[in-house]
Amino acid sequence: MSSNIEHWTRANSEFDDADAHERWSENEVSWGLWKTPEAEIGVLGDVSGLDVVELGCGTAYFSAWLARRGARVVGVDPTPVQPATARRMQAEFGLEFPLVEAFAEEVPLPDASLDLVLSEYGASLFADPSRWIPEAHRLLRPGGRLAFIRPSPLLYLCDVEDGRLTEPMRGMNRFEKPGNSDEFVLSDGDLFGLLRGTGFEVENLVEVYAPEGARRHEHYSYTSPEWARKWPAEEIWAARKPA
Ligand SMILES: C[S@@+](CC[C@H](N)C(=O)[O-])C[C@H]1O[C@@H](n2cnc3c(N)ncnc32)[C@H](O)[C@@H]1O
Repeated sequence: MSSNIEHWTRANSEFDDADAHERWSENEVSWGLWKTPEAEIGVLGDVSGLDVVELGCGTAYFSAWLARRGARVVGVDPTPVQPATARRMQAEFGLEFPLVEAFAEEVPLPDASLDLVLSEYGASLFADPSRWIPEAHRLLRPGGRLAFIRPSPLLYLCDVEDGRLTEPMRGMNRFEKPGNSDEFVLSDGDLFGLLRGTGFEVENLVEVYAPEGARRHEHYSYTSPEWARKWPAEEIWAARKPA
């Protein structure tokens, strides 16, 4: 997992740190590449009074949005410079919540201590699902929920410039990216099976398309808005640990 840290240390200096102020300034809760409003998706519900952890929080802007809505949030990230940026933002915006340096596969928080486990392209893409999903289940109280956004499997199977299917779906899991952070993307069926096998009830799967007028993300530019208006480049999952 050390190449992960090197990659995210570099990503922090190339983009995340500079982007943090703008993201922390946003009032709306939104998801992913196209900043799809949570008000349209409606997977989180009222978070006021909930104990929440964001796994792979980066500069912790998503955590900040939920803290402003009354959640008791903890941000978890293994790359030291990311919580360092988050701490600077906390001081600037006068909003404090705990930040813990850890991998999502092994979170130093107690069993059954949380109501919501969240990930926006953190654990949901960069942690091993066979380890972080059981870890999320361990952390949740009975009745607690897991919500995350990740890239769609289609994005990993297609040539995104012309839409041709180029990669096998069977067995898709770990995508090694020499010099970058490895990524984990299971097929929808395999992820559904993993969630169910871990003890979650799957509540929702929302395929996210690029909206009209979307522009290519200035940093995460691996998909074009033209492609992503026809095929979902992202998907949001919600699951519940039964009460
Ligand atoms: C793209 S950022 C996600 C944060 C934020 N939502 C964003 O979009 O900028 C990805 C984060 O995942 C973290 N990460 C990488 N591997 C991880 C792992 N195994 N467990 C938890 N977080 C991890 C990285 O340190 C990085 O800060």
